[in-house]
Amino acid sequence: MSLNWLLGYLCIVQIVSLLYFTTADSPYRYSTWEVTYGHIYPLGVPQRVQDMQGILINGQFPGPDIYAQTNDNLIINVINHLDEPFLITWDGIQQRKNSYEDGVYGTTCPIPVGMNFTYKMQVKDQIGSFFYFPSTAFHKAAGGFGGIRILSRPLIPVPFPQPADDFTLLIGDWYNNDHANLRAILDGGKKLPFPDAVHINGRRANDGIFTVEQGKTYRFRISNVGLQNSLNIRFQDHKMKLVEVEGTHTVQESYSSLDIHLGQSLSVLVTADQDIQDYYIVISTRFTSQVLMTTAILRYQGSNRPIFGPPPGGPTIEIGWSLEQARTIRTNLTASGPRPNPQGSYHYGQIPVERTIRLKSSSGQLNGKQRYAVNSVSFIPSGTPLKLADYFNIPGVFRPGSMPDHPTGKQMYLDTGVLEAGYRTFVEIIFENKENIVQSWHLDGYNFFVVGIDGGKWRPECREQYNLNDAISRCTVQVYPRSWAAVYVSLDNVGMWNMRTEFWARQYLGEQFYMRVYTPSHSVRDEYPLADNALLCGRAAI
Ligand SMILES: *[C@@H]1O[C@H](CO)[C@@H](O)[C@H](O)[C@H]1NC(C)=O
Ligand SMILES: *[C@@H]1O[C@H](CO)[C@@H](O)[C@H](O)[C@H]1NC(C)=O
Repeated sequence: MSLNWLLGYLCIVQIVSLLYFTTADSPYRYSTWEVTYGHIYPLGVPQRVQDMQGILINGQFPGPDIYAQTNDNLIINVINHLDEPFLITWDGIQQRKNSYEDGVYGTTCPIPVGMNFTYKMQVKDQIGSFFYFPSTAFHKAAGGFGGIRILSRPLIPVPFPQPADDFTLLIGDWYNNDHANLRAILDGGKKLPFPDAVHINGRRANDGIFTVEQGKTYRFRISNVGLQNSLNIRFQDHKMKLVEVEGTHTVQESYSSLDIHLGQSLSVLVTADQDIQDYYIVISTRFTSQVLMTTAILRYQGSNRPIFGPPPGGPTIEIGWSLEQARTIRTNLTASGPRPNPQGSYHYGQIPVERTIRLKSSSGQLNGKQRYAVNSVSFIPSGTPLKLADYFNIPGVFRPGSMPDHPTGKQMYLDTGVLEAGYRTFVEIIFENKENIVQSWHLDGYNFFVVGIDGGKWRPECREQYNLNDAISRCTVQVYPRSWAAVYVSLDNVGMWNMRTEFWARQYLGEQFYMRVYTPSHSVRDEYPLADNALLCGRAAI
């Protein structure tokens, strides 16, 4: 362990102990969310006989934004008025020591029909832009998503001036088909067709208008909440200055077009430095032969000149372009994060890697049905959340180590994959993609350092090209076709954490598993106990 790193570490430890006593005073923010079906028209007038059934939160689609400040406690009472059990997960909220609130099938019981569950979360030591969405039963295809923004505490410097306004842009691909029909296709062992459209905040072409004042600078928080496609975004005649990616302040580069892969979030600043008129905001699908596109409007106050001409074009199938852009997204080491110290004080590149985990995704037929797998294991849920099985010591729900930590070359098989991982170990994870699509991998409970992304097959020599200095720290990483991505992660958050593809049909059909970061200590210093309002289901209910 180098001295530099040790000093950085000591610095963090001191600040943590200073902050420890303030945590208890962090504000509580309460909300109640009524979850209902409703008619939504993201593609305009419904073409089908039956209207699209969307999922609304408090009557809204997309759902309300969550506003928080570092360390706030969020108390959200979710009332399920649907006709099926329902769960929401919070992409990017790390649920420190508290995976019970993560809202995925392996940690939290779905909220039964007509019942409610109050999530109790703390956005401990976090800043940044994220989103929430329904995690089970393919409900994500029906909406139910919304933005999450965690602001810095007042005295912590933010590496850019306060923007004049701060907008959420949830973008994604969309099917003009009910989620229940889509689920039936997947349950029947078939692949989904190509999506029908892309949307911006659940709206179709030019429905969304963002009003700006000439000369001022605005923050746009953009998340790809879609089901299967990488997207590209651009603002006609304007540059985007990238300032934040999933809770990390970035080196502030300017882009005229940006790729946002499935499940990823970022913030850009856009300065209204052009003539007073309307401009296009365009999103379009990447790496698809058929390009889906939609637009919103950036309107200068006082504009009486509507948008004109074709919306600006962007990249379509170019992969090298996207890879080059990905390499420019780096951490600003001297900027503060959630704490007043520079983000670079944690010298991840000097910590010895204790374990390498290699994850290879695959697809194929199993018993005549389409399935997807990681290291040959196609995930099937157990009847009892894995985390509850751990908490109540219920045997037989899962087998620790049922998920191998490297490709085995076996035929694909069904299992409740759980990967054992030592608490406080520092690991390298390699995502290997031999398929012809872009993958997007997300880990709950953590941010990881994206140290390398490249084409071809990963070999130990690839480590020589790792970025061990200013790699971006985030929770979702893309893996290009026939390529690999490598991340470093410090497993300092005890819990049962979902590792999944954000390609939602593939996730639904098995491309996911849980990482069990376990300690037998049962000390609240390491992990909180199960909340007293926790819903119990499966064998935990008996
Ligand atoms: C359901 O909501 C009520 C308040 O309306 C609350 O007291 C109760 O704790 C909630 N149930 C759960 C499981 O969170
Ligand atoms: C990094 O952050 C510092 C501190 O806020 C800021 O002064 C600097 O301009 C930033 N550098 C880049 C390249 O974004």
